[in-house]
Amino acid sequence: KEGFLTLGIESSCDETSAAVIKDGKEVLSNIVASQIDWHRKFGGVVPEIASRKHVELINPVIQEALEEAGVSYSDLNLVAVTYGPGLVGGLLVGIAGAKAIAYAHELPLVAVNHIEGHIYSNFISHPELEPPLVCLTVSGGHTDLLYFEELGEYEILGRTKDDAAGEAFDKVARVMEIGYPGGPAIDKLAKTGDLEAIELPRPLIYDDNYDFSFSGLKTAVLNYINQKQQKGEDIPKADLAASFQQAVVDVLTSKVVKAVKAKEIGQVLLSGGVSANSHLRSVLAAELKQLGVKLYYPQPKLCTDNAAMIATAGYFKWKLKQQIAPYALNADPGLRL
Ligand code: KG4
Ligand code: ZN
Repeated sequence: KEGFLTLGIESSCDETSAAVIKDGKEVLSNIVASQIDWHRKFGGVVPEIASRKHVELINPVIQEALEEAGVSYSDLNLVAVTYGPGLVGGLLVGIAGAKAIAYAHELPLVAVNHIEGHIYSNFISHPELEPPLVCLTVSGGHTDLLYFEELGEYEILGRTKDDAAGEAFDKVARVMEIGYPGGPAIDKLAKTGDLEAIELPRPLIYDDNYDFSFSGLKTAVLNYINQKQQKGEDIPKADLAASFQQAVVDVLTSKVVKAVKAKEIGQVLLSGGVSANSHLRSVLAAELKQLGVKLYYPQPKLCTDNAAMIATAGYFKWKLKQQIAPYALNADPGLRL
């Protein structure tokens, strides 16, 4: 097999994933085994179940990734693995698998920050992208607004002070009893609702910083539901979904626009699970278009957790001679950018 082949492994949350990437940007395979069915009845990811499922799934998923790519271990040039942030049990399973392959086949090992992986998912979907860039990473675990002029060197403009954006979607969907994971459920239901129907707060929107806060918004939705229930009234679920989603989109959009103006930048990246949100994409793209700024986001499968983005990030780290890991590599559950 020609080209530089990177095997990526991702197991930081509830997806067990392995991918083979050629020359950093071409996806030869990207196998994602979702554990959603095992966590759904608990309304969220149960760490102990996730760890056990990762143990079961890791080898078959890696095998499938190699088969689909049509390569064998001896064709590989590099192994890249997520080492944080995430659930420690899951991370350790991926790291153990990556180390075993690297050791047995005498391959270099690169440790990848999961959030950086999300950023790099855009470089697969849009290989022509070059910094300087403003990037908003919004997922179940993080809400980070950052700026970079060079690959790998990030200026954190702001992040969430409490819940992540995706976490707010998931928690609100849970109290509304509309399904798990909550993001896609709210996205769908909101299409039939009135986004101005229910007045909700937009935390920190006028603050002179790039920080976010979503727990107050979640509480406001909860209070609204409680009041309705006390009065014995029906909850207008579609209107509530649309109004909640609009509040989140308003806050995210206003901070991105502020960053774009401050940095005088012409291109913005969206990444992480919430970047799949159809309303966020259209509102943000429209706002940015007025400023002559272009919005990029990954194709759907690359928005949520996957190993292709980890392999790509790992490939670029390898080229920059960064994050080359020793066999003593450990998980870092609280890792930051
Ligand atoms: O990136 P990801 O797969 O995992 C983390 O690294 O956290 O993101 C998962 C999050 C979940 O909170 C999920 O509800 C949210 O992304 N999400 C969405 C949509 N699709 C996934 N949120 C809003 N709208 C969507 N369409
Ligand atoms: Zn993620």
